[in-house]
Amino acid sequence: MKTKRIISLFCVFSILLAGIVSGASAADYEHEVKVKKVTFAWKIDGDTLAAKISAQTKGWVGIGFNPSEKMKGADFILGYVKKGKAKIIDEYGVDKTKHSSDKKLGGTADAILVAGTEKDGITTIEFTIPLKSADKNDAVFDVNGDTVVLLAYGPDRDSFKTKHKFRTALTVNLATGASK
Ligand code: HEM
Repeated sequence: MKTKRIISLFCVFSILLAGIVSGASAADYEHEVKVKKVTFAWKIDGDTLAAKISAQTKGWVGIGFNPSEKMKGADFILGYVKKGKAKIIDEYGVDKTKHSSDKKLGGTADAILVAGTEKDGITTIEFTIPLKSADKNDAVFDVNGDTVVLLAYGPDRDSFKTKHKFRTALTVNLATGASK
């Protein structure tokens, strides 16, 4: 009787564990754009945007949404991986060439880190953000319309203070994946 109970407990535990493991890795992204050495893959998952940014750098990779001018007004997420540990920050473009943390600006950090790796000189950061956060400095996404996406990455240093080595801007439709 006791053995039976232990076996069934073990089964329940295994099923739970399998669910957790597969859930954590079930990040199949539906769309992808690649510009030179930086890739943005994403999917709309209910009321969140699940994103993966990958670039040829050992430093930071970053994405910005809907600037008003250059970097100004954009909702930025930057991340790097230092000694195997990923770190992301939620920022806002306070100026054409400057960003500051949402928290410092009286808002909240709304990006949730999902995973981060640095392998063969390529840094990959995965995170989710709400399509409509309560923070006034975050983008409110219209997934069926145009979203301006800034992509950038820094030099091979784990510091958010370094300027980009590469940056670009494109327009995407987050629902269909069309880009221009
Ligand atoms: C980490 C600190 C950053 C610094 C110090 C910085 C600084 C600057 C500066 C000085 C410029 C104007 C000069 C130039 O064009 O190179 C610029 C432009 C630009 N930055 Fe940044 N940047 C940073 C992060 C980012 C991030 C994370 C992104 C996007 C994900 C980004 C996207 C851009 C774009 C697209 C432009 C060009 C805007 C235009 O000319 O239309 N920057 N940045």
